Amino acid sequence: MKIAVFGSGRGSNFEALLRAKIPNADFSLVISNKKDARILELGSENGIKTKAFKSSEFSEENENIVLDFLLENGIELIVLAGFLRKISATIIQKYSNKIINIHPALLPSFGGIGMYGKYIHEAVLKSGTQFSGPTVHFVNENYDEGPIILQETVPVLFEDSTDDLAKRVLEVEHRIFAKALDLVINGKFEIKGKRVKFC
Ligand code: GRF
Repeated sequence: MKIAVFGSGRGSNFEALLRAKIPNADFSLVISNKKDARILELGSENGIKTKAFKSSEFSEENENIVLDFLLENGIELIVLAGFLRKISATIIQKYSNKIINIHPALLPSFGGIGMYGKYIHEAVLKSGTQFSGPTVHFVNENYDEGPIILQETVPVLFEDSTDDLAKRVLEVEHRIFAKALDLVINGKFEIKGKRVKFC
């Protein structure tokens, strides 16, 4: 399956996906909105085609620029690995249940606009919840609201700083993202509303 990975930052999740050697996962493209993002270098180092679009080229008005590029390259699945722009509605419709994202908290809590990076872990600590953990989900038209594929919990400790918590969640992200991608590519699944069942 031909996959495009979208990312804006360091790409540690993408690295974990590469390391996992998932059967039938053909990472064909790495796309970013930041031309100096480490994730693009990682793509090049692994012989994968890379492309940086301007942030404005991800907007609804210009959505065909990115969409056409995906179609020209025969992309069948999109993986969002730390991508900080919203995916346009047309791309989401065209790739319905074919876009997956990883979020470093237990959705449906701690998601939505403004919930990215350290802000997520700050909100988790402030809430007093005793558990956090990553969520891998399909992407629909609403931020962080698509059907959930996999989640795993980690404890939130009284002494935790946002960095401590982010680090603990990230370790689990690297494991479950690869597992979820494998399930999506190689497993059979059924989606009913927001619920996903793997058979
Ligand atoms: C991860 O915490 C991921 O959950 C979130 O963005 C971060 C990306 O980190 N969506 P990396 O670039 O994969 O290291």
